[in-house]
Amino acid sequence: MRELEKQMQHICVVGLNWGDEGKGKIVDVLASDADAVVRYQGGANAGHTVYIGEVRHVLHHLPMGVLHDGILAVLGNGMVLEPAKLLDEVELLPEEAVSRIRISDRAHIVLPHHAAVEKLREQSAAHPIGTTLRGIGPAYQDKFGRDGIRMGDIMTPGFIEGVLPGKLRELTQRLGIPGEGIDEAIQICNRLKERLESQVTDTRQLLHKLHQQGKKLLFEGAQGCMLDIDFGTYPFVTSSSPSFLGLGPGTGFSPRKIDHVVGVTKAYCTRVGEGPFPSEIHGEEAEALREAGGEFGTTTGRPRRVGWLDIPALRFAVELNDLDSFALTKADVLDGWETIPVVTAYRLDGEELGQFPDSLTDLEGLEPVIEQWPGWSQVDEVSMRPFIDRLMQATGIPVSILSTGRRRDEVCVFEPFRAEGELA
Ligand code: IMP
Repeated sequence: MRELEKQMQHICVVGLNWGDEGKGKIVDVLASDADAVVRYQGGANAGHTVYIGEVRHVLHHLPMGVLHDGILAVLGNGMVLEPAKLLDEVELLPEEAVSRIRISDRAHIVLPHHAAVEKLREQSAAHPIGTTLRGIGPAYQDKFGRDGIRMGDIMTPGFIEGVLPGKLRELTQRLGIPGEGIDEAIQICNRLKERLESQVTDTRQLLHKLHQQGKKLLFEGAQGCMLDIDFGTYPFVTSSSPSFLGLGPGTGFSPRKIDHVVGVTKAYCTRVGEGPFPSEIHGEEAEALREAGGEFGTTTGRPRRVGWLDIPALRFAVELNDLDSFALTKADVLDGWETIPVVTAYRLDGEELGQFPDSLTDLEGLEPVIEQWPGWSQVDEVSMRPFIDRLMQATGIPVSILSTGRRRDEVCVFEPFRAEGELA
């Protein structure tokens, strides 16, 4: 294990589907071996659930690592932070855990006018995206429009009283919602500053120093790569880069230093919100799967759309994320199925496609080709081997982690996280 550890200094965990793959649990498992866990994009649109014993923990901004003793939990510059939600999360933690949080001074702040303008847009759009309504898109618009408010601004003496009100008056005026949420914004920024000022720092520099000291970093992408702003099913996407490619701009840490990228996929697929989902199923079959998997949103409570594992979409995700291994989750939901339906290709205008199409128009006309793969009696290495081998054949990528249930300890770990012959 020592040898392996030396080679695997830094790991990145990404979602391969449309989010909700169970990344929180995988990050939690790998975090026991890390010195810092780092999130690089998104904000309170994410919701990670992990069970420690029978206790359910839900985090929206903070990476799961914060629940491990001695690990730094880093919120990178690529994130957009919603002060009230972040403060709520912090309140649930012991003071010792709060002292291990580091927040980038360059991370942007989501303010009440962002959520207000998003609600108006979603309500009036001909084709709403079905966002989480947490103001994520508008906050990134302000960032890229060079109008954003950053964590470092809030911490600058005199900024909240002297600069922020004028800036927000100008912004809300331009958005057609003059004065919306300004008092609330000032109040919440003051609370944020009071509570978390000592946690705000230059996290790019911090990560660089940790690397030089030989410390191990675990990076975590929120959502899933099919929701990537550039490479997902645009415009039905989130406003950041959940794929591995988002790590660089979201942290200032070179992706060249990452030793292993683990992609998390469920044994079936889900999607929340609108947009293409070629392997989607409907009716009673869908309802049974949704109930069995407890597929209701952590952040919004919305029922998730469900479908079969989609191999062309996975092949695309393997390429996009330069993937090294899979973490397979929620296979236990399909325990006892003799065979597992898997979408192995699509048909479009009579032609068979093995690749996920780039164009939204093509995505709409796809007909999935379904194969039956071998099922398992229960999730363990032996029972699942035929399915895992088939997945490897279809994608060229091995499974390194198999989640066998919802609790933290319900997991099988293979190479390279466990040397051959070593017990998990
Ligand atoms: P936004 O990120 O709130 O702007 O939402 C854009 C799209 O991404 C919508 O379809 C959301 O349902 C989806 N989305 C955002 N965050 C998550 C997540 O954590 N899990 C699953 N879907 C998400």
